[in-house]
Order: sequence, then structure tokens, then C-alpha cells
Amino acid sequence: MKVTVVGAGAVGATTADNLVRRSVAEEIILLDIKEGFAEGKAQDISQTAALLGFDAKIKGVTNDYAQTAGSAVAVITSGIPRKPGMTREELIGTNANIVKSVVENLVKHSPDIIIVIVSNPMDTMTYLALKSSGLPKNRIIGMGGTLDSARFKYQLSEKLNASPADLNAIVIGGHGDTTMIPLIQHATWNSIPVSTFLTKEEQDDIVQKTMVGGATLTALIGTSAWYAPGAASAAVVESIVRDQNKLFTASVYLEGEFGQEDINLGVPVIINKNGWDRIVPLELSDEESQKFNASAEAVRNMNNVLKE
Ligand code: NAI
Repeated sequence: MKVTVVGAGAVGATTADNLVRRSVAEEIILLDIKEGFAEGKAQDISQTAALLGFDAKIKGVTNDYAQTAGSAVAVITSGIPRKPGMTREELIGTNANIVKSVVENLVKHSPDIIIVIVSNPMDTMTYLALKSSGLPKNRIIGMGGTLDSARFKYQLSEKLNASPADLNAIVIGGHGDTTMIPLIQHATWNSIPVSTFLTKEEQDDIVQKTMVGGATLTALIGTSAWYAPGAASAAVVESIVRDQNKLFTASVYLEGEFGQEDINLGVPVIINKNGWDRIVPLELSDEESQKFNASAEAVRNMNNVLKE
């Protein structure tokens, strides 16, 4: 199977690296607009094959979409990342133009493609990709909740001194510092509610740290993170390619589910060879529903900027 990763920067190259290491696809195309950049990154990754022992092939190309033809899946990471103090939303103008043209090029060469959007502001970019591609809704997946949920589990594991793999916890809503909703009431440590182990203050602290997880890293590193975003993107691709039916939170097009319509927002979904196969219904408390509606309003306002 062939997978394309657009954008060979920090997140794109890390996604491709994760895919190749685990031989998720036999052929990976890494594409970037910057002359020679993807070729260089692809060669560097290829040179780990003898050390890590994988047979998957990765090829770097400069803006040559003919090379992406026949891709089953593409991950779009092209665009600008945020700098310290910036919100994801401030990236909209530049990234909208980039995402729109990338989607058109991908679909032209791979009409049956499934697209995973990473570029920020991710929910709005996913909505734009859906509207501009003409692809069925199940073939457009926004990656954000998968990362935010991993960050949520990290914060829980630090506090509980638990193995992250023993934790079940998801983040729904928008992929933004103020729009994401870490569902602490639903979080469990091997099926036992985390509230059994944590005070209300500790729970609030974990939720807060999760929400600013990306901004915290941006302040420390000087640009946005890439290891966890790359691993999260690769996990979504793997569930598609290997038809794993994994449950992730992803930004998908809502048509009345969770009380929202004509919007892409993070909800629990099953991801398999069809893209996002179905939405998993979840009973939200009144407070969680209110937060979800507020998150939808913020994302809808952002989507409206596209129409201006
Ligand atoms: P980066 O600057 O390292 O890489 C972006 C790459 O895109 C650059 O190599 C650039 O040359 C390329 N590019 C720009 N325009 C292009 C075009 N038209 N066609 C092909 N390539 C093009 O940025 P980084 O850190 O990899 O972040 C990428 C995007 O992902 C940003 O928008 C960032 O905010 C977002 N992001 C989203 C996350 C999520 O959970 N959804 C997590 C982390 C980052």
C-alpha cells in the first residue's frame, strides 16, 4: 500500500519515520514544496533501515504530485506551525490556501484517497478539506484528539504514577487550548474511575495542563511539538491501512451527532479501512454538553473566517 505525507517538516517527517519503522505501508511518499527538502529527509530516514531493520521504502519529492498517484492515504502537515505566544487559530489565512491546493492535487492523482489533516487550525482545515475535495465525509479525518488524548494520559500517568497504557481517557471538542474538553469524569485506570484516586483539585489541574499541553511545549521548544503529533498521525494511518477498528477521537463532519451539524469537531470514532467508519455515541453530562456547544461555536466562528 502507498501512503503520502505532505510537508516534510517536523511533524511530517516524524509521521513518515513512524510509518516506515513499523512498515505500516510498503511505500511512503514524502512531499514538500521546498526544493530538495523532502528528498533529504527521506534519505536520512532510509539510512536508518539497516540499523532498525525495516524493508518499507520512503521516497522524497519536491511538489511532484504525479508521484503520489494511487495513494490509499495521505497525511497533510504542510503549513506554518505556531511560535511561542501564538494560537493555532492565527495560522488560518496562510494554512487555508496551502491545505486547499494540496487537497486538490492529492485528489486529482488519487480519487479514492483517505486524507488525514494535521495542519492548524486543524478543525477548520479539516472542514475546508471536506468542502473543497468533494470526497465522502468518511474519507476526511482531522488529527488532534488523538494527540490531545495522549497528552491527557501523560498528565494522568504522571500524577497517578501509572503506566499510560493502563489509562483510558479521551479529549473531545475542538483542537484548541480553550476548545478541547478532556473528559476527566470518563477517564479510568484499568476500568476504575480516576476520580477514585484523585482529588477534585488534582483532576482540575490535570485537565488544565492537558489543555495547554501544546502551548507549554511551544514555549519550551520555541516552535510546536512533533514527536507526539507524528506518533499520533501515524497511529491513525496505521488503523486505516491495517483495518484495525481502533477507537480514536478525531475531527469528523457532524450531521446532528452530539447536537451539532455542518461542522468538523473532535468526537470518538472507529477508524478502519473506510476512514472514520462510525461515530461512537457518548453520554455527556450537562456541563460537558455545554462545553461541547461552546467549543462548536468557537470552531464555527473560525470556519466563518474562511467564507469572508
Ligand atoms: P514545519 O514548518 O516544520 O513543516 C511544515 C512544512 O510544510 C515545511 O517543510 C514547508 O516547506 C511545507 N510546506 C509549506 N507549504 C507547502 C505546500 N504548499 N506544499 C507542500 N509543503 C509545504 O511545521 P510542523 O511543525 O511540521 O507543523 C506543521 C503543521 O502541523 C502546522 O500547521 C502545525 O500547527 C500543525 N500541527 C498540528 C498538530 C495537530 O495535532 N493537529 C500538532 C502539531 C502541529
